[in-house]
Amino acid sequence: CSSFQWLFPYKNYTKIAHRGDVAQAPENTMAAFHSALNNGFDVIELDIHLSKDKKIVVIHDASVNRTTNGEGLVNDMTIAELQKLNAGSWYSQHFSEEKIPLLQEVLDEFAGKIVLLIEIKAGAETPEIVEQLANQLKQTVNAGVPAKMLQIQSFHIDALKQFTERAPDFPIGLVLSTPINLIQMYSYKTEISFLSIHYSNLTQSFIQQAKHYGYTIYAWTIVTPLQFKQMQLLGVDGIISNNLERREENRYFA
Ligand code: G3P
Ligand code: CA
Repeated sequence: CSSFQWLFPYKNYTKIAHRGDVAQAPENTMAAFHSALNNGFDVIELDIHLSKDKKIVVIHDASVNRTTNGEGLVNDMTIAELQKLNAGSWYSQHFSEEKIPLLQEVLDEFAGKIVLLIEIKAGAETPEIVEQLANQLKQTVNAGVPAKMLQIQSFHIDALKQFTERAPDFPIGLVLSTPINLIQMYSYKTEISFLSIHYSNLTQSFIQQAKHYGYTIYAWTIVTPLQFKQMQLLGVDGIISNNLERREENRYFA
């Protein structure tokens, strides 16, 4: 512990790559996940939707418009249609070979090597995506990956409840824009172990209270060096960020 650390008790934190290492590669692609694994992140955060033919794919938006060369809703497109799209050129021509990954491809490549934080972007498809997800993760555990390396989060408490009914062994987290009255958590009757909260709404008193109740706290989405320091001083457990704190160069995406 250096004297600097003694003067300023910055807490060590879990480094969570928001949609992969998006400072180096396009979000939610295999390239972004490989970069996160190889560059010192502890966790890869990724987002999932369901295709028309009921396969889970890794993409943030409900449509393909922003992050591919196609147009349309993910739910309206088959896997064959989705995987024809270029998911990297919008970011840089260097990534023109990137496709929208299937969740199974990500599990096959990364599960067990790094913690995966899978966000259910629930919509009308919630029961189907949750059932598929539970089955795929249980198979991954049967293949030898510890359940604690597969974490699930969502803004939608219903999706989390449905998931835990099918697969109770995985760490579950609620994503929130603002802190919640923690007493309310009991009414959900679901075993939530972590809370992912927008950094701008985190306070020391909330974090103390959350710790008292036994919750792990992740802050999202950290971009600037000052935000990293603020979150460490507050004592969050994990920082979901668009870059590594130590990197000098910055290319940030909100
Ligand atoms: O981890 C929480 C954060 O990812 C939620 O925001 O829109 O980037 O999925 P979004
Ligand atoms: Ca997310």
